[in-house]
Amino acid sequence: MIPGTTMLDRSEPGKRACSLPRPDVETVDPARVFPAGLLRDGPVGLPEVSEPEIARHFVNLSVLNHHVDRDFYPLGSCTMKYNPKAGGRASGLPGFSDLHPMAPDEAAQGALAVIHGLGRQLCEITGMDDVTMAPAAGAHGELTGMLMVRAYHAAQGAGRKKVLIPDSAHGTNPASVTVAGYEAVEVPSGADGRIDPAVVGDFMDDEVAAIMITNPNTLGLFETHICEVADVVHAGGGLVYMDGANMNALLGISRPGDFGVDVMHLNLHKTFSTPHGGGGPGSGPVLVKERLVPFLPVPYVCERDGVYRLSWDRPESVGRVHTFYGNFAVMVRAYCYVLMMGPEGMRRVAEDALINANYLLARIKDRFDVPYGDRCKHEFVASGKAFRPKGVRTNDIAKRLMDYGFHPPTVYFPLIVEEALMIEPTETESKAALDGFADALIRICEEIETDPGLVLGAPHDAPVRRVDEAEAARNLDVAQ
Ligand SMILES: Cc1ncc(COP(=O)(O)O)c(C=O)c1O
Repeated sequence: MIPGTTMLDRSEPGKRACSLPRPDVETVDPARVFPAGLLRDGPVGLPEVSEPEIARHFVNLSVLNHHVDRDFYPLGSCTMKYNPKAGGRASGLPGFSDLHPMAPDEAAQGALAVIHGLGRQLCEITGMDDVTMAPAAGAHGELTGMLMVRAYHAAQGAGRKKVLIPDSAHGTNPASVTVAGYEAVEVPSGADGRIDPAVVGDFMDDEVAAIMITNPNTLGLFETHICEVADVVHAGGGLVYMDGANMNALLGISRPGDFGVDVMHLNLHKTFSTPHGGGGPGSGPVLVKERLVPFLPVPYVCERDGVYRLSWDRPESVGRVHTFYGNFAVMVRAYCYVLMMGPEGMRRVAEDALINANYLLARIKDRFDVPYGDRCKHEFVASGKAFRPKGVRTNDIAKRLMDYGFHPPTVYFPLIVEEALMIEPTETESKAALDGFADALIRICEEIETDPGLVLGAPHDAPVRRVDEAEAARNLDVAQ
């Protein structure tokens, strides 16, 4: 027996367990509280199933779904790459997964070392000075970053009201800016799909708090003028926010901190080894340059002489943005990934992602219009506009791809490309997988010519055919 404990006396069942006084619980009549339609009028009716039956049920459900362990998943803007299973095993180690979120710092040194160590690695990778690992997603990182921008300007005594956002930005950017209390002002891209410093200059005035740039942008293009854009914005007293969720294209090649970025976020669940798109927990760390460090959220993870602690003593902080300290298991996976890859491996990730995207682009560009260039970074945006005269739209092509066993690309985004098909193959796909996908797209183009009904009626083999998406969005019924 552990010293200092007493054994429960089993001869008097419940003696110790019931010794605490029961709180006074007011009995409430459910019929008075809940609408009649929600009240149960009989037993719950849970099925009586054995372990093999339940295992088969879930395995069958899992194969109805499409996932990266099953086949190619070129969902643009989502970086649906294969993530090493080792990271998942590490995040499940009892020392991590059983740690109580309210454990005192002394008892959580390992976890704090992971958060701190990963943060330092991310600063190195991005060229930024400091980081908060707390935000739970990319959009949450954007909001956190914008709150810091606000706090920075407030500390300067400046009440700036606007944030400039290129029309090629990710959709969450204007939303986050608006939630942070700013007016989002759209800046048109040039004919090459990139932002032009002169145009940004035309929009600058002393009301502009920041520019928020997705780089590479949603057309899969690197913003080649980002240094000049940063100079223009800084000269006008604004800050530069970079949406770094597409960092898969830049790892080990270039660092946002070197091209004038003041604040940025990463999507660990895109770039650093946690699947994106499953609706599961994510992580959107925000990295800052020196002048924004005082505004980082609390608690702030600090280290002195090898001892880690959570600091709350940060008078200029924007405050707390997440319960406890963010989604820790995602951080463990990311740390494993960074350590496993090392600097050389990181660079290889980006190079292979770029080669794969450009290979796919080259294979399909004779069949599909790609309005913004014949070179891309990690993804590219093709257009299905040419098929309109046949009555076929991008959505039909996406559905037909399912019959060939592929997850469709992102469709109808970004908005600046008509009938957009946004394709991101990622670095983990083989040439054979890329060829299989390109062949399927080319076959579909031929089908549109010879038998458009086949494409219009797709998917033919999926467990669910076409749904009325507008109806489904308005009248959600998750019980069906
Ligand atoms: C470029 C870009 N920015 C921001 C986000 C938003 O990230 P999250 O979905 O985690 O909120 C995404 C998501 O894919 C993205 O691709």
